[in-house]
Parts: sequence; C-alpha cells; structure tokens
Amino acid sequence: VRPSRELARSPTSQSPCADSYALKPIGIFDSGVGGLTVLKALRARLPHEDLLYFGDTARVPYGNKAPATIERYACNIARYLEDADCKAIVIACNTASAFALDAVRRTVSVPVVDVIGPVAARVADSPDNQTIAVIGTRGTVRSGAYVRSIERQRQGRRVIQQACPLFVPLAEEGWTSGPIAEAIAEKYLQPLFASEPVGHLILGCTHYPLLEQVIRSTADRYARGVQIHDSAGYTAAAIEELLEAGGLSGPRDRVGSSRFVVTDDPSAFLGVGAAFLGEPIDSAEHVDVR
Ligand code: DGL
Repeated sequence: VRPSRELARSPTSQSPCADSYALKPIGIFDSGVGGLTVLKALRARLPHEDLLYFGDTARVPYGNKAPATIERYACNIARYLEDADCKAIVIACNTASAFALDAVRRTVSVPVVDVIGPVAARVADSPDNQTIAVIGTRGTVRSGAYVRSIERQRQGRRVIQQACPLFVPLAEEGWTSGPIAEAIAEKYLQPLFASEPVGHLILGCTHYPLLEQVIRSTADRYARGVQIHDSAGYTAAAIEELLEAGGLSGPRDRVGSSRFVVTDDPSAFLGVGAAFLGEPIDSAEHVDVR
C-alpha cells in the first residue's frame, strides 16, 4: 500500500491509516557514499526507524553534472524508493537537493526532505546577522539554492559562496588531514574569508564533515570563532518533525535496521562507506535504476 497523496502533501494531518506506515523504512539517497554522513545523523536521532540507503555509485559524482541530468537521476531513485515502500524520502545529496527537490516532490507521493532547506532556515535565523559563507560542489554553488533558501527565510541576509570540488576526492581518499588537505583548504577558503568578516560557515556538501578539522583550523586563521554548520543534524531533526506531525513515526521501543543498495560494485562502497559512517557496513546490494 502506498501512502495517499493527501497524507504525503499534508503531513500535519493525522491519518487514520498512519499506523500502517509507521514500520516502513525512511529512504535516503545520495550520489554515492557521502549521504552516509546524513544516515549517521538519522540513526543517532531516530534509532528506532528502519533506513534504506541508496547510493548511486555508478553515476557519482553529481557535483559537476548538468541540472537536467541530476534531476533525471534523482527522480529515478525517488521512484525506486517509493516502490520499495519507503514512508518518506531524504535527499541526502546537496547537489541533488539544489537541482531536483521540486521535481522529486512532483514525482513521488511520500513526503520529501532535502539537506539544504533545514540548515539554511536555521542559520538564516541566527540573531547575530553576520555574513553566512556556503561551501559546496560547483553545481550546488552555481545553482544558488542556498542563497535563495536563506533569502526566503530572512530577506537581505548576506551570503557568500565558494565551490570546493577537490574536497570530495580528498574525503574519499581518506586524506582528511596533513599538508595536502591543508594546502587545498587554504587555497579555497582564504579568498572566501579574506573578502569580508564571516560569522557562519555552512558545509554544503555531504563529504565536508570529514574535513571539518582542517576546515576549522583554516577558517580560524581568518575568521576566528566562525560557527560551522553541518546540515546532517538539521535534516534529521526536520525528518523527525515531519514524521511526528504526520503520525508516521515508528514505535520507539524497537531498534531500527539499515539496508544499503548501490548502483555499482557493492564491495567498493563497503570500504569507503565505513569511513563515512564511522563503522563497518556488513553488506550492500547491487540494484539498477533507469
Ligand atoms: N553528494 C554530493 C553533494 O553533497 C557530493 C558528491 C558528488 O559530487 O556527487 O553535493
């Protein structure tokens, strides 16, 4: 049984059949391993929920692909997750959130949460009114999605951006500290912070939390005390709120499971994925989507 369009569109309304959705999994998708940083936050906040993680490892990276391509991939995957009986979908990839949120919402009838809206809303509302810096993939920065989202929440709030494409392979390679990571962080962040005083830095890419230490030490040299925001925690809070409002939360007296599916060789995912998740992943299945 699929959730009705009405239930999905108005999560605040308690549905008489909401109970039948409670034990269904939450679907989470990303271009590859990066979304595991979001899955980790979901597990911490909602340990009783079952999670189905979809990593599009055959088509990664999304960060430098055309918007229409990303939209098509994201909608394919969302359909797969809805067909797999997910009660809600998290777009864990920033680039897919930037380009495909509306299209995914039109494609499926279950509620959809992205990784940009929740963090943008919270940071935009910070009372200090200091400049917000956003770092992300080329696609995310070019889309202007963070800028629009922050502007919607708080008109006139100043936002500056910087694409940091090399952070993605650095994180996957495990080179998250040392001279190479430091030199790359310096090259990207120095111009960003040199331009004006910055109070907030949003890590607008799934991979950047792995580099948080080097990002923080570089940022501290130019903008001491800058607050760093990782969207994963804000996204987990948003999905919890949405499930509760819709009567879709699973019972809290159980331990949820996590299942992983990927579009390329699962063994490669298991190795890199463990570093992103901070614990081993026992198994992943291969699937095809079109
Ligand atoms: N998951 C992507 C993001 O958060 C980064 C990796 C990619 O380019 O696919 O934007």
